[in-house]
Amino acid sequence: MLFEQDWVKVLADQQTRFLRSQAESLGLKPAVAGKEVKLLDYACGSGVASWVRNASSSRFDRLPFASHRTDNSTHHKTKQNKTKHQALLPYVTKIRGVDVAPAVVSLYNRAAAAQTLTADQAHAIEGDLSAAAAPADSALSSPDMYGFDIAIVSMALHHMDDPQAILTALASRLRKGGLLIVVEGTENRPAVDKMEAAGLDGPALRQMLNVEAFAEETMRDWLRAAGCRCMCTGEDGEGFVYVVHDEISPVPESACKVPGGLDRQLLIAASVKA
Ligand SMILES: C[S@@+](CC[C@H](N)C(=O)[O-])C[C@H]1O[C@@H](n2cnc3c(N)ncnc32)[C@H](O)[C@@H]1O
Repeated sequence: MLFEQDWVKVLADQQTRFLRSQAESLGLKPAVAGKEVKLLDYACGSGVASWVRNASSSRFDRLPFASHRTDNSTHHKTKQNKTKHQALLPYVTKIRGVDVAPAVVSLYNRAAAAQTLTADQAHAIEGDLSAAAAPADSALSSPDMYGFDIAIVSMALHHMDDPQAILTALASRLRKGGLLIVVEGTENRPAVDKMEAAGLDGPALRQMLNVEAFAEETMRDWLRAAGCRCMCTGEDGEGFVYVVHDEISPVPESACKVPGGLDRQLLIAASVKA
């Protein structure tokens, strides 16, 4: 399975650390008892944006929601170790995952159970928010699947035919002021050149490697068209979040077919529902 490949585990670990490093600038705060914060993890896969499997271990770290809060320094150290591989879990009290692939939904729900999370705390359903694919009577229509404080689509927008429509659909699931986060790979002109030099071109490969779709301007236009606005006031008055990770994410030749493999970089784009 893709999620079990070493380079995917490394990437997943990078995603987690990148998300956690940006949490404060995204306005995320550790969850506190009695205040519900609801996350939609769209195209959730095994749950990398919610939590991530420890790259060096096959066991999931166990973390009851929000239990990491303490002023006791010894306890805090222990909890930090446990939360090392948690992505957005420490910031929320309830997660709803959605994925188009039933096997992946099962994987996600098994991962939630392995962390002793109840179905009310974290649960994924099968679904597709592409306009043509969402029947009115699906589980996606349940009131539980609206009013989110945060929605994230991580390393998945490049699989979708109409990213703009997906972002609009995700924004419609957010409460006003809710946060929409995209994790993707950066525009990667050298990767295109390398692919072309290797005679390996074509829409599918380009899409898989998201070599050109996720430039800052494109992301900003998509988020704005989805009904989002900037989170802060940048010098140019724009202020949509667009941060590129400083680590390189290598894709091995075996996965991308390009001789020597390719280097990618993660990006986080975000804005809030107007
Ligand atoms: C590369 S994985 C990313 C998983 C996870 N979000 C992460 O950050 O690692 C892409 C996921 O998108 C899902 N997917 C693809 N198209 C989808 C769609 N239209 N709606 C929902 N999920 C979709 C796939 O089943 C797969 O689990």
